[in-house]
Amino acid sequence: MLSSKIAGIGKYLPANVVTNQDLTAYMETSNEWIVERTGIQERRYAHRTEETTTTMAVEAAKIAIERAGTTAEEIDFIIFATLSPDYYFPGCGVLVQRAMGMKEIGALDIRNQCSGFVYALSVADQFIKTGMYKNILVIGSEKHSFGLDFSTRGRNVSVIFGDGAGAVVIRRADESETDAPGRVLSTVMGTDGTLADVLKVPGGGSACPITPENVELHPNTIHMEGRETFKHAVTRMLEASQQALEIAGLTAADVSLVIPHQANARIISAIAERLNLPLDRVFMNLDKYGNTSAATIPVALDEANKAGRLKKGDVVLLVAFGGGFTWASSVVRW
Ligand code: ACO
Repeated sequence: MLSSKIAGIGKYLPANVVTNQDLTAYMETSNEWIVERTGIQERRYAHRTEETTTTMAVEAAKIAIERAGTTAEEIDFIIFATLSPDYYFPGCGVLVQRAMGMKEIGALDIRNQCSGFVYALSVADQFIKTGMYKNILVIGSEKHSFGLDFSTRGRNVSVIFGDGAGAVVIRRADESETDAPGRVLSTVMGTDGTLADVLKVPGGGSACPITPENVELHPNTIHMEGRETFKHAVTRMLEASQQALEIAGLTAADVSLVIPHQANARIISAIAERLNLPLDRVFMNLDKYGNTSAATIPVALDEANKAGRLKKGDVVLLVAFGGGFTWASSVVRW
């Protein structure tokens, strides 16, 4: 049977660092509040005009493709996960195909918010397993900074989000490559649409077009009931992790490293505790970048790899949760 492996990883973070202290210029908040409630110290904001969700993705993709030892011409499918696309349409996948001068391959945009990258990985895994594609470019990229409410009203949301991009090349592993690093062993996905209103950008779609009358309510920014989101994030990420491990024939005790969605250090600690894993087996970089939604996991994967934390034979657990609600998990053998 065919299987897929992560053949190359890349990331791109804008140079502009915005500290918690910087945010106090716009809203009533403090470094202490943000650090204590979230663990975030700073985040990156893209340049207002020169960096977009797509330009950041392209930079991350170039690195992932080079590290996979291939070229953009060899990519046969693009899957792009984002909640902050350049345009309502066309999607960012198409814009990457254009920017990188790729062949006229398929490009699919995934709209599953912070779970988007793991959903994209799961979709890529299926296309590889059917034999349809050999090299799939999977991207998670977000430019949140343009769509946040920087007034005190929006402070529970705006302090947690940052901009950035991560990309991987998912490649077909032949039957002989039973010990190829980065093999995807399992993926699971879930949703609970009954809670769709807890976390959303309400305006801009057909249900609530943005008009001169409603623009004052900031319908184009993220609205979130933080505590409700927090509670479900812990429960669902735990369940998804356990399901993905069970499908892979493993348990939490086998996990060498968890790479969770980076939304809140307290959510991550709660999951580690419930999986009975010490925090040194959990990767965290949200202190530097905040929540970059679909980009958090590929960015963290890249940093874990560079730090030598993905060793041959390691079991790596990816797990994410986001608006929808949506959640997803994957077990990868390094
Ligand atoms: N600075 C100072 N005070 C603040 C801030 C801030 N930035 N934000 C809120 N407060 C105040 C509130 O006004 C409130 O004050 P009150 O008690 O006087 O009314 C108090 O702090 C508590 O507010 P909460 O919103 O209840 O704070 P909470 O402890 O829940 O922390 C947070 C908020 C950090 C957002 C947390 O709820 C959280 O991390 N939630 C989960 C986020 C997440 O996982 N999202 C999923 C992915 S995102 C996606 O898919 C797009």
